[in-house]
Amino acid sequence: MTAAPRNYPDLHEHIAALEERGMLRRVDRRIDKDSELHPLVRWQFVGGLDEADRKAFLFTNVTDGLGRAYDIPVVVGAIAANPAIYSVGMRAPVDEIQAKWDYAIANPIEPRLVDEAVCQEVVVEGEAIKGEGNGLDALPIPVSTPGFDSAPTLTATNVITRDPETGVQNMGTYRAALKAPDRLVVRMATRVGGAGGYQHYLKYQKRGEPMPCAIVLGCPPYVAFMGPQKLPIGVDELTVAGGLAGGPINIVRARTVDLLVPAESEIVIEGLIDTEWLEPEAPFGESHGHIALEEFNMPMRVTAITRRKNPVIPSYISQVAPSESSVIKRVAYEPLFTHHLRHTLGIRGVKKVSLHEPLTGLLRVTVITFEKGTSRTEVWRGLNGAAFFKGDCGKICIAVNEDITVDNADALLWAMAYRMNPVEDVQLVPHRGQGHGPKREHNQEEDSTLLMDATMKSDMPPLALPKQEYMERAKAIWQELGFGPLRPQAPWFGYSLGDWLSQWDEAAERAAHGRYLENGQISEKARRKGLKPETKYRPDEDDKGSNDRS
Ligand SMILES: Cc1cc2nc3c(=O)[nH]c(=O)nc-3n(C[C@H](O)[C@H](O)[C@H](O)COP(=O)(O)O)c2cc1C
Repeated sequence: MTAAPRNYPDLHEHIAALEERGMLRRVDRRIDKDSELHPLVRWQFVGGLDEADRKAFLFTNVTDGLGRAYDIPVVVGAIAANPAIYSVGMRAPVDEIQAKWDYAIANPIEPRLVDEAVCQEVVVEGEAIKGEGNGLDALPIPVSTPGFDSAPTLTATNVITRDPETGVQNMGTYRAALKAPDRLVVRMATRVGGAGGYQHYLKYQKRGEPMPCAIVLGCPPYVAFMGPQKLPIGVDELTVAGGLAGGPINIVRARTVDLLVPAESEIVIEGLIDTEWLEPEAPFGESHGHIALEEFNMPMRVTAITRRKNPVIPSYISQVAPSESSVIKRVAYEPLFTHHLRHTLGIRGVKKVSLHEPLTGLLRVTVITFEKGTSRTEVWRGLNGAAFFKGDCGKICIAVNEDITVDNADALLWAMAYRMNPVEDVQLVPHRGQGHGPKREHNQEEDSTLLMDATMKSDMPPLALPKQEYMERAKAIWQELGFGPLRPQAPWFGYSLGDWLSQWDEAAERAAHGRYLENGQISEKARRKGLKPETKYRPDEDDKGSNDRS
């Protein structure tokens, strides 16, 4: 087979790139995919490791709960265990990811149709899919939350469907639970802002036809990133993936359904989604951090499984954030929000938008960082813009200034404690859907929105820590004394917050050089009579006419 030209890596090349950079752990020991695999990877999210120390895990010796061995390896965390791993797939440093997304969305490239593809090197269809150990059963799909989940579940999916009216394809990451060698149940969110594929489902249902569907596992990273990305309905994600790659993504016709799938993917599960009958699916550990309880979702009859000769199966670790699922979404969604506020709404002073990740899972708490001195009007436009950009994001929106480390909840509370006056700086807005969470809207139960301006409304005195130069010098001494590693946590040095004078800088400089007596001579000259203690003194305005007490 002659490989079609391409200028983007496939999953195998991406895994090799991670290994080269020391970002991959190989696990050659036998691992049970049903009860051991995800819990092992989970430890790197709940075991006190730094985000930067998380790795991708490649399992080469996978068995299941019945002791069956699989010859296909499983990889977890290879797309987004942390932003550094995501940035390898994005082929851009972490701080350039925002610009790369902006560019790709503005400059989509149509995919290139090829005749032959590695994802179809092996084709299993018809009767060959049925029967235990065949079909889906031959794939080592892990159980994500042992103890709660009712099925091995596909998580690292790019689910492709086509709008029967416009012919435009959609691609989203949706979970799918294994039910039989030739049947799974797909869950597409029906809420506002939910799955694009669900809009197609409604159209097929109206026509009284089943919906053709292709569940792709192990796409080239540029394509994988598109699954969770929130693009407007009607945009073909494969064109934006081309924009990321800077060239067309190769696609091939699926074998048994009228859909186009990424040619270099690992495995494609083709089938028809029943638009009449629904089947119970879940319990499953959800990305909002609770177990999704059993509900009726869409059964899909598998018509073909096509794959490479040597596939590797990716699985996303999701559930309680942080997780691979929250990282992959965070790195994709934050640029969208920032772009929306800055360019669509034209709000001045926006530095960045951050979606709070641990436990809250991105959708509930949004923090907008503004330049100091941004007007109140712009801050409030930003708060409202972030809260209502997506129907299911931004229940709590907080505006802060650049010196607040948004990922540090202590720093957020600090901003609220000193920079926010509740009666002036907080608004409650009614009428928000429950969104993606443990409570559902089936009873029309509503939530609401909390907006909070915790920016500085005027200059404040400096933060009371030694200036950076002194802290750095002391750090060198700490290290010289062998006192062990430090993990600096911002803020770890003092800095001006606007209310500060050059005279005070000079006085501090003298004091830090042992010349405090000179400061005493200066302050002696500024003595006054007849004032109440704690009266403010500002040497810039108030220097004339000092009253000697003598
Ligand atoms: C690991 C993971 C699992 C997800 N599972 C689902 C799911 O089961 N159903 C769903 O509708 N969205 C799910 N999402 C979110 C969607 O991928 C996301 O909303 C995306 O924008 C959907 O694409 P679409 O707008 O083209 O449908 C998941 C995301 C990730 C990262």
